[in-house]
This record gives sequence, structure tokens and C-alpha cells, in this order.
Amino acid sequence: MSSGSLKFTAAIDQGTTSTRFFIFDERGEPVAKHQEEFNQIYLHAGWIEHDPYVLVQSVRNCIEGATAQFLARGYKLEDISAIGMTNQRETSIVWDTRTGKALYNAIVWADSRTTHIVRQLKSKDGAERLLQMTGLPLSTYPSAVKVRWILEHCSAAQAVYDEGYLAFGTVDSWLLYNLATGDSSERLHVTDVTNASRTMLLNIHTLEYDPFLVKFFGLEKLVLPKVASSSNRTAYGIIREDPLKGLKVTGCLGDQSAALVGQKAFAEGMAKNTYGTGCFMLYNTGIKPVISRNGLLTTVGFQLENQPAVYALEGSIAVAGAAVKFLRDNFGMIKEAREIGELAARVPDSGGVVFVTAFGGLFAPYWIDDAQGTIFGITNYTTKEHICRATIEATCFQTKAIIDAMEKDSGIKIKTLAVDGGMSNSDECMQLQSNIIGINVDRPAMKETTALGAAIAAGLSVNVWPSLDDLQHVNSRDHQKFTAKTTLEEQIKQFRRWERAVAMSKGWLTTE
Ligand code: G3P
Repeated sequence: MSSGSLKFTAAIDQGTTSTRFFIFDERGEPVAKHQEEFNQIYLHAGWIEHDPYVLVQSVRNCIEGATAQFLARGYKLEDISAIGMTNQRETSIVWDTRTGKALYNAIVWADSRTTHIVRQLKSKDGAERLLQMTGLPLSTYPSAVKVRWILEHCSAAQAVYDEGYLAFGTVDSWLLYNLATGDSSERLHVTDVTNASRTMLLNIHTLEYDPFLVKFFGLEKLVLPKVASSSNRTAYGIIREDPLKGLKVTGCLGDQSAALVGQKAFAEGMAKNTYGTGCFMLYNTGIKPVISRNGLLTTVGFQLENQPAVYALEGSIAVAGAAVKFLRDNFGMIKEAREIGELAARVPDSGGVVFVTAFGGLFAPYWIDDAQGTIFGITNYTTKEHICRATIEATCFQTKAIIDAMEKDSGIKIKTLAVDGGMSNSDECMQLQSNIIGINVDRPAMKETTALGAAIAAGLSVNVWPSLDDLQHVNSRDHQKFTAKTTLEEQIKQFRRWERAVAMSKGWLTTE
């Protein structure tokens, strides 16, 4: 079958626990997809690494799987207009610009090995300027501290750095370096402005690397990727390998920004919450960055081609799907992630159990780097159903804390929470979420919003959708709403118990 005048847009979605490749039609429906989980490397408590070459190979495998499906359905690869890239953010990779060889495993965003470096940096002159310049609190989360750790612990990387050949990239840069080339076949070293805004080296006001920041982290000799807009016809090159050889990459953005675009939250005041390995709420604040007073991050939401950047306030939860994976892989309580919602719904409440899923400290809005995962309230009465429920509630309570912070920062009440990502597939989880926040939850039928956002960014560049108005029918079918079935009194009571548990999980790592 020839697709005639149909246009397709593809997306690479390289996430924390799996990689996916999608091919979308013009209505944002996936016509082919392939997903692959890959190995997480946990060498010590709090450490998480990925093999950079496994990440590249997983992308190749997913492209092969999805394109085979696409061809089998009778479509042609030349009907794919462009490719978008989206990726786990902050995860940091360094390589030698002369050989292209990675010099250390990727240090993953949720890795908390840098706690001691963060403490030292916090007492350094100029530390008080970082939040205003970067929108990020100094923590183990952004890339710059991870690169500092690599230099301090990997002599091969330090030697290459001293010679001035050490390249740094977030996962988008690394994948594009390996899978694409520029027009004259040159290797690319590029990133987009949303990913760059997570390094702590980018000044979010100028959208350029700031010499003060680079010096603050002692990274003056690091070779940094060029920063481009998230939709861009030229910056991201063309794929250099079959089966997609010659296809242009015209969109690139960090996964949470991609989900914001995929939810079509283009206007100021729109928000989305994505339940992935972590859970991230982004609230569009328009073309001016708003610096939070309540523990949120300020990030670049997206930048369309030749347009000003749009900023977002972000509430980052480090552990969401990661806790479900933990129940499956470490405790063996469930066989598959999707069982958790059903088990949780078998009990009317968590039976007094509160699970603070601080596997590597707590992120927004708390920023407690010495909190550790703690389960409170276990008795003889506790069953695995209660633990499952408490696990889901942990993400829902943190979402509530983030909504409260966003309302304080913006002065605006959030009326509906647009959701997507793994845990949002579960009706039970979304009902619990609505019960805890007392706000309607709105879920689109097509929940692969992150990949769709990357495809939209790419498709806008090459006129698959000539303007934002042409996205009206994209991902608009069959939204489902969840309405709170709890009273305000119950919500307040439950949330107080959660906050008490958070306070008690503090200091576990430093009081030994
Ligand atoms: O900042 C980390 C984030 O980008 C990871 O997203 O979907 O893998 O939890 P996810």
C-alpha cells in the first residue's frame, strides 16, 4: 500500500529504563512502534549508570523493529518527513573528541553519588547566584556536578580534559554524535536548549553557556555541545545509517519538554504531569522565566524555530515508575508493573502505611539530599496490597506538594491536571491521584505524549504541521477525566501524614 499524500513523522525516545521508536501519522496516532528495556548498572547504593554504547544500540534496535512494522503495513520509508529526538535529561556522558570513545559510563540523572561534591560547592563563593542564573537549585541532579565527579574519579577522562579534548553531552548529544552527521558528513556535537538548561552551565536568561557557571564548576576546558532551538531544520543533521539513512532530524528536546509539547501545552498557564521512571510536572509560564520561591525548578519548556524560548516551572519527583519497578524486581511483589493499580484498589486505604520513596534523596519541592527510602506504619495487618497502594500514593502526594508550590509561585489555582506516561495508564492510579489532590485529572487516549512531542517539534520544522493551529486534531480524541471522591478534610489529613513521614525520613544518611 502506498500512503499517497500521508505524511509521517518519527521519534526516538531514549528514556531512563527503556528506549522507544515511534512513527506517527498526521493525527498523532502511532502507526508503528518498538520498545526495548536495557540494563541499569547499580554499582553502589545511590549510583545509577548506563552503558553509553548500549543506549546507542537500543536506539538502533528500536528503529529496526518499528520500521519493519511500518513496511509490513505497506508504508514506505520515504513517507517519513523527519525525525524528532527526545531523551532522559541531565544524564551525562563524556568522550574523547579525537576518537569518539566514551570514557566513562553515563551517570544517570537520579544518581546521588555527588552529595559530597554538592556540599562543597554550596559553600563556595558565588553559589548564591546559581539559582537566579540557571533556574536550578544546586543538587545532585544537574549534569555539571556529575561531570565534576567524573573528572575527580576517572583519570583517563581527566587526562583528556587537560589536553582540551574532553567532550560532554547529555544523551541527545551522544546519540546524535553516533547516529547522525552534518550535511558535509562531519560529526555533530549539538544539543537543544531544553537539554542544555538542565546542565547548570546554561544561563537561562541569555540561553548561552555562561563563563561564570563554567568556571564555578571548574569545567573551562570541557568541549560543550552547540545549543540549538528545539525545532530546527539544520542543526541536528541527517541519520547516517540504514534503514533511515539520509532522513533529517529536525526536532530535539528533553523528554519532559517533549511531553509538554505532546500535550499541546503551548499557552501560558497550561500544565502537564508525566509519570515515567520519575514524575515531572511542567507549568508553562510564557516567554519570561519565573524563579520559584517554593522549591520548583525553572527550565526551558521548548523553543520553536526562530521564536523566543518558552519557559516552565517544573516540579521534579525522582522516583515514580522506579518504585513500581523496585516492587517488581527487588521485592518480587508483582510480576508486571501494570498489576500495581489493581492490587492497590483491593484495599480501601494504605492501612496506615506511608512509603517515602526517597531512593536517592527527595527532589521537588523538598530537596532533601540525605533522605532515604523509608516505609512507615507497618503492622501485622499490613499486606502487599497496602504496600502497593502506599507506593502509588508516594508519587501522588509529591504531586500534591508540587501543585501547592506551583499555585504559590504563580498565584493561579490549577483546575485540571493533564497526565501521561506509564502510571497514567492505570485508572486506579489516576483515581488515587485525583482523590489526593482534589483536582480533576485529564488523560488523553494516546499516552505516548513524550515521543509525540518530539515528532511535533520535528514536524513543525518541515511543515507536516505548518503552524500550531494545524495541531488541533492531533492527540485530541477520547480524553478521560477522573474526579476526586474524597472530601477536603480527608485530603488534608492524609497529606499531613505524608508530610510527617517526609520530615522523619530526613537525615538518615548523615546521622550514622
Ligand atoms: O530529568 C529526568 C527525566 O528527564 C527522566 O524522565 O521519563 O525517564 O522518568 P523519565
